[in-house]
Amino acid sequence: METLKIDITNKTIDDETVGACSNDSLELIGALTPAAEILKSGGTVAFPTETVYGLGANALDQKAIQKIYEAKGRPSDNPLIIHIASIEMLEDLVEAISSHAQKLIDAFWPGPLTLIFKKSTLVPDVVTAGLDSVAVRMPSNEIAKTLIALSELPIAAPSANLSGKPSPTTGAHVVADLDGRVDAIVLGDQTEVGLESTVLDTTGDVPMILRPGAITKEMVIEICGACDVDQAISSKDSNLVPKAPGMKYRHYAPEAEVEVLLGDNIGIVKRIEAEIKEAVAGDYKLGLLLFEEDLLVLKNLLSHDILSHDHIVIFSQGSAKTPEVFANRLFRDLRSSDAFSCKRVLVHGVEDNGIGSAIMNRLNKAANGLVTRI
Ligand code: TXA
Ligand code: MG
Repeated sequence: METLKIDITNKTIDDETVGACSNDSLELIGALTPAAEILKSGGTVAFPTETVYGLGANALDQKAIQKIYEAKGRPSDNPLIIHIASIEMLEDLVEAISSHAQKLIDAFWPGPLTLIFKKSTLVPDVVTAGLDSVAVRMPSNEIAKTLIALSELPIAAPSANLSGKPSPTTGAHVVADLDGRVDAIVLGDQTEVGLESTVLDTTGDVPMILRPGAITKEMVIEICGACDVDQAISSKDSNLVPKAPGMKYRHYAPEAEVEVLLGDNIGIVKRIEAEIKEAVAGDYKLGLLLFEEDLLVLKNLLSHDILSHDHIVIFSQGSAKTPEVFANRLFRDLRSSDAFSCKRVLVHGVEDNGIGSAIMNRLNKAANGLVTRI
């Protein structure tokens, strides 16, 4: 199938001009109208959100939803998140909004938080993979908001990658995975957060994180007073089944073998030094996802020759003090390690708190559990 590409890099609505209909906003609406028409007629459209790119279709149209599963090669037991542009849209999709959910909506929507509710009868079973609950999110990205509002539909949208690949954070990633498999791709800027939204179940007495993201446990506790985390996503016990069906799959894996290093910074740099020498001796490519601080130490340890050597590909994750920069670059760099044909990838991990929990959750999967404490 021919995929329509709509390039709207940098064409975002300036908040102050909303309502006044500036040239910019009119231009954005004009550019997105064909994509909204495709959604209305049951087609599939990939578009940017603030977390990762999503692959959208009308959430109320079973045939349209089927196209999403087919394009991604997604297992049919993995439910989709419905994206909305207004609270009125939410009311039709859910049976009830708990007081916790209402507080979280007030605090974090629009934004990178998906909430799980009891579903209404309007939501087709294909969207929820037969569950009696439904996941809903109101994105803050202007392109996403405008597209959903123009389509006047709730839009079911998983991440716009082929199933099993790291989620796409640039339009180029989406094109690489889905060109020819979907009706349209809206090409915007690189996504801001870079990791998928936090998935939070609000159907119980205490909200429970089913997938960690940029809205952290600490942030939820501040609003609701308490927050649980699904045991299955932090525990090494493989008998525990994650409550979010998608969390049981091995995701985010590049072709390379990935190992995550944690613990003593000097020990980690020493280990990397040894691995670099092995890669040179063994004549293979080693990818390194490191902090600026590590790179400074490494540059002192190793000769310039080796660091600029063909065998090493360095991806700087910014400073260890800004894990949100790491989050933003992680999927892009895992994908790039494939483009560079890395055989091994070493990643300097982070502590399991704040957004670090989301980073470590994705890294654990990318590394298939190979996390070494030094
Ligand atoms: O940031 C995001 O959430 C992105 C953008 C596009 O919004 N979307 C995304 O969707 O990551 P997806 O399909 O790749 O991941 C959705 C996750 C899966 O792990 C799925 O199993 C879980 O949410 N999920 C969906 N509905 C659920 C439900 N009713 N109960 C429990 N988990 C659910
Ligand atoms: Mg996904």
